[in-house]
Amino acid sequence: MQTNSLLSNQNILLIGFMGSGKSSVSRDLAKQLKAKRIDMDDEIIKISGLRSINEIFEKHGESKFREFETLALIESLNKKNQIIATGGGTLVHNSPSSLLSENRMSKEDKIVFLNATFETCKNRCQFSDKRPLFKDIDKARSLFNERLPLYNSIADHIVNIDRKTTQEVTKEIIALIYNLHRPQI
Ligand code: S3P
Repeated sequence: MQTNSLLSNQNILLIGFMGSGKSSVSRDLAKQLKAKRIDMDDEIIKISGLRSINEIFEKHGESKFREFETLALIESLNKKNQIIATGGGTLVHNSPSSLLSENRMSKEDKIVFLNATFETCKNRCQFSDKRPLFKDIDKARSLFNERLPLYNSIADHIVNIDRKTTQEVTKEIIALIYNLHRPQI
């Protein structure tokens, strides 16, 4: 039996640096909201015809990866009632204001920033062989510092994720989306 999503014709886009938990939170959130889920990295891999993000970077370089990423994003935004786990660079390289003015995103769509410290991201990603941009820790740190103001500025909601479980983060996001509480300052 098909169960209706608790979202109202909108998409929820999870943004944040590599290792901030976008994929795990998207799984739990999709389950709680009876919504579909898209992981951008999986879509990018499908479009590329290759087997991994690493292979795309190695064979084609970052700029081609970003082209695949834009195609995957546009395809993903065509559907509604989805939780979209973006890649850490997706909305850095595709600005939400352009996506809105091109009618690719709608005002009902919500951007949720999973705010993690660099230490948390580093601990989760530094030994991963799936993150080409984390091979050089100093470069990853600079990228983190460069992106942080942007993530903050484009987010409709911000959730601090350090020392929280996936379920706690999901609960907070649901409260924010349905305006059940104001974030604590
Ligand atoms: C990237 C993040 C990665 C992946 C690619 C580039 C980035 O996704 O899209 O390695 O630019 O931050 P995750 O954030 O899911 O690790």
